[in-house]
Amino acid sequence: MARVYILNGVNLGTLGTRRPEVYGTMTLDDIERLLGEAVPDVDLEFRQTDFEGEMVGFIREAADSDGLVINAGAWTHYSYALHDALEAVDVPKVEVHLSNVHVREEWRRRSVVSPAVDAVVAGMGAFGYRAAVAYVLSRGEER
Ligand code: DQA
Repeated sequence: MARVYILNGVNLGTLGTRRPEVYGTMTLDDIERLLGEAVPDVDLEFRQTDFEGEMVGFIREAADSDGLVINAGAWTHYSYALHDALEAVDVPKVEVHLSNVHVREEWRRRSVVSPAVDAVVAGMGAFGYRAAVAYVLSRGEER
């Protein structure tokens, strides 16, 4: 069974009530449930943390998995620590954003983690996680 890490960073635990006009009304639990239903034969390690060091630990843990999907929240825009942690892990990696960061504030257009991942999904809402997992699984089939 393929094992894929779904990592959610700072403030993503407040989804559902946090700016629903931007991020939608689904909670992170809703997203986890939907994803589990979409890929029942995949072992999903679904995590959220507001602590950067804990996220680094999760990324390292994913090193012996089949891939990882990460929504790093605001860390996306300034955390070189997450960039370096991602760079060191040799599995398929996808960066996800619920919102289209490119049509929002200028500072959200820059991601310091993008150079350390294989692909980026933004603006698809919760569906972005499904697209990202599908890509990770397709990379596994190539091997
Ligand atoms: C986000 C976009 C980030 O700019 C923001 O800080 C978030 C969520 C998204 O999913 O659209 O926390 O990563």
